Amino acid sequence: MTERTIETGRGLVRVVADAEALAHAAADLFAETTTEAAAERGRAFVALSGGSTPQRMGELLAAAPHRDRVPWERLELFWGDERWVPSTSPESNAGVARRAFVDRVPIPAAQVHPFPTPDEAATPAAAAAAYAATLRRAFGGGGLPRFDLVLLGMGDDGHTASLFPRTAALAERSALAVANVVPKLDADRLTLTAPVLNAGRRVVVLVAGAGKAEALRAVLRGPADPDTYPSQLIRPDAGHALWLVDEAAVRLL
Ligand code: 6PG
Repeated sequence: MTERTIETGRGLVRVVADAEALAHAAADLFAETTTEAAAERGRAFVALSGGSTPQRMGELLAAAPHRDRVPWERLELFWGDERWVPSTSPESNAGVARRAFVDRVPIPAAQVHPFPTPDEAATPAAAAAAYAATLRRAFGGGGLPRFDLVLLGMGDDGHTASLFPRTAALAERSALAVANVVPKLDADRLTLTAPVLNAGRRVVVLVAGAGKAEALRAVLRGPADPDTYPSQLIRPDAGHALWLVDEAAVRLL
């Protein structure tokens, strides 16, 4: 099936055949957006999603042709969220990304900005506060950090980043990053807040697989209920988000 787009009142949905096509489209977007940002502003700021969906994209970015199309030396890489685990944990979003591509491309180490881990910060709240300070230093001055590219995923419960249904972080409108207790996972998470995610110049949500179909329908077509479907909080200041999805995930839309 060829690519197609669906206009919803909550964002443009670009439908590709399957997860592999989605990874290629995401890698193309990553290369295009960072090249454009570096040309226009000298640097490119990216907030990377966690989870499994972006892994294949990462592998593509670490090899030709994508590897040669990204201005790695002018890229500042952050994460949209992180688990409260050591960087060596298989649960670590930064650890997964490092193994998939970050440690295999010529991005200067000082331009890779993972969240602090339990080895580096005393508490999740301290880690989130430290990350907010890192963001302010990297972006300079006050105001909201405006990433050139915010890459997000969506869980089958409609969460994004670590903004989970009925959790405290959903209501945060002033802090740039917060710790978030997620009872359903019995876990502490670290996450950028909705205002920071929505300040992105380009916000792309990657959604693949039939398991996401019901949540995608609810998020994009259902009644406004961001407490239940936090991905509804993604309403970028600079216009609509791009929902990059595969046929399996879009079947109920
Ligand atoms: C995380 C993510 C999270 C993820 C979704 C989708 O830390 O888990 O940032 O928001 O994007 O849960 O995860 P999958 O891509 O694994 O389905």
